[in-house]
Amino acid sequence: MPLLPSFRRKRFTVRPLESDDSETLATLHEEDFARPWTEDEFESLLLQENVFGFAAVEEGMSRARPVGFVLARLAAGEAEILTVTVTRAFRRRGIGHALMDAVLRTLHGERAEVLFLEVDEKNQAAIALYRRLGFREAGRRPDYYRDSAAQRSSAITMRRDLR
Ligand SMILES: CC(C)(COP(=O)(O)OP(=O)(O)OC[C@H]1O[C@@H](n2cnc3c(N)ncnc32)[C@H](O)[C@@H]1OP(=O)(O)O)[C@@H](O)C(=O)NCCC(=O)NCCS
Repeated sequence: MPLLPSFRRKRFTVRPLESDDSETLATLHEEDFARPWTEDEFESLLLQENVFGFAAVEEGMSRARPVGFVLARLAAGEAEILTVTVTRAFRRRGIGHALMDAVLRTLHGERAEVLFLEVDEKNQAAIALYRRLGFREAGRRPDYYRDSAAQRSSAITMRRDLR
């Protein structure tokens, strides 16, 4: 069924994550990850001083339920993406890119040196997004992931130099 024009026109904005986002983050996370993180885990991550992130919400509705988020950690000039996800109905609208871009801008502001992440070699959507953002492969961990059918796949470590 074609989308209603008003739905298609929706615009999204990115705002910093807040401590009371943890329940929503856990709900979004369990949509896509085999071992989803709990609300308590998100809450303790958000309380850590070196952890930060952003949520994507409908423009003009900052209190609306986020449709995606990214969480990152920065320590001693090196940063990592802890997780990033966009709810299925809102993919391919630039939201993942906007979330990652917000992290990159923050890290430039902090004068960080490098951003790392790990991605399943089978996750073509995420790999395409990261390549587009200038990440390159830095290593592999063979047989790191196992899917629901017990199929194993490698983790690709990717890096993006920031200076
Ligand atoms: C990866 C993910 C966050 C991308 O979010 P998104 O909002 O759909 O991404 P964007 O719309 O910003 O895409 C930006 C670019 O990434 C690439 N891309 C994104 N999804 C893609 C797909 N399914 N196939 C091919 N390229 C894709 C494209 O180059 C795209 O630009 P384009 O739409 O102009 O072609 C989303 O697919 C997701 O939540 N996946 C499940 C969770 C996950 O795998 N997280 C990453 C774990 S490492």
